[in-house]
Amino acid sequence: MKTKLLIFGITGDLGTSRLLPALEQIISTGDFEDVSVIGVSRHAVNLPDLFIKCTNKNFLDNKLSIFEMDLTQLEEYTKLKDYIALNDDEQLIIYLAVPPQTTSQIVDFLGVAGINTPNVKILFEKPFGVDLASATQLIEHTAVHYKEEQTYRIDHYLAKEMAQNIVAFRARNALFNDIWSNLFIESIEIVTSEKIDIEGRAQFYEQTGALRDVVQGHLVQLLALTLMDIPQDLDWEKMPQLRLASLEHLHLAQPLNVVRAQYDGYREEVGNPNSMVETFVSLDLCSHQHHWMGVPIRLITGKALNETTTEIRIRLKKTEAAQSNCLIFRIQPNEGIDIELFAKKPGYNREFEARNLSFNYPADTKIPDAYEQVIVDAISSQKSLFATSDEVLQSWRILQHVQDEWRENEPELKIYPKGSTVDSILA
Ligand code: BG6
Repeated sequence: MKTKLLIFGITGDLGTSRLLPALEQIISTGDFEDVSVIGVSRHAVNLPDLFIKCTNKNFLDNKLSIFEMDLTQLEEYTKLKDYIALNDDEQLIIYLAVPPQTTSQIVDFLGVAGINTPNVKILFEKPFGVDLASATQLIEHTAVHYKEEQTYRIDHYLAKEMAQNIVAFRARNALFNDIWSNLFIESIEIVTSEKIDIEGRAQFYEQTGALRDVVQGHLVQLLALTLMDIPQDLDWEKMPQLRLASLEHLHLAQPLNVVRAQYDGYREEVGNPNSMVETFVSLDLCSHQHHWMGVPIRLITGKALNETTTEIRIRLKKTEAAQSNCLIFRIQPNEGIDIELFAKKPGYNREFEARNLSFNYPADTKIPDAYEQVIVDAISSQKSLFATSDEVLQSWRILQHVQDEWRENEPELKIYPKGSTVDSILA
């Protein structure tokens, strides 16, 4: 079907560094010739600036146009509708790559202008709201104009190749499937550490912080993939319901089990000497589902750390005779899996040493970027890798006590030097 992709925020960081390079890859496959792009911008656009992160700067030749408009004026949306001129045999995908505070009004004006016919899909970037109340409001507000089946909530971590592989490995390998419970698993830790700092996103980060930016969406979704039941038939369409069920079994996070910290220099960078916004957070959770009871879960994320990595670390229980093993899903970089095993140390002595058994992709494997997957799935109406409204609300609910405590009592905020390790902050 002919697809028109309308991108709000095309000139922003997400638009230029993730969406346009993803589109370049998709279009280069030759399978998406009937996709065209309309970029919405509040000001005139210097086209070469848009393609700064693309290899082929001309891949959208004759397929891209820019519509300049004031996003706060309703009548501009009527002009936008005329400009799009959507035919019945075409679909429109609206991609809202804009800050959460502006989303509601844009959705409203799009709806009032009539850009919400059944052949229109609307894609939201996270974070969906800033807490439970605002997310509820945004969801209700969107529902006035768009049906749930037209609404796609992107959490690009769900679409990462190795995140999908958590499901594949668990479903298709007895080695993993049979040990997946508190009988064998001792603890679960999910870590996203980044070397980069907030990279000039002062306004966004001051309103967001690490808990909302990465934990509420990305890490909670990776946890859902780790804990959820796998459908026997591996029907991906059932995944959102199963992810939700696993989240509903989590106890709400308690502020006492949280460490929050900020990197040294953050306050100067954002120009707010009193900022209490966290750039690092570690949060402990547990599930009351019978086969997960008693397994400690820790989610950790931080910016300006010593390394960039996202991993799911599953520690297996030690028995009297055997050592505990660690199973690591390397979500990124170097996508793959490591199993830490104990082997006999080569030599005449009967000693043991820890060695890794690793699953890696061959060096020339093209692993799709999560945003490619998201766009391809939206075009073909595959919703399994998008978060449903219930999942979004449940993950805010899990974090609500923590957010309330931080707002009301401003508990301790550690300061850490840039380049710190996770362990040193938690020590
Ligand atoms: C985004 C956050 O959603 O995810 C950023 O807003 C973060 O702060 C980014 O850096 C990480 O995504 P990725 O795909 O680079 O791990």
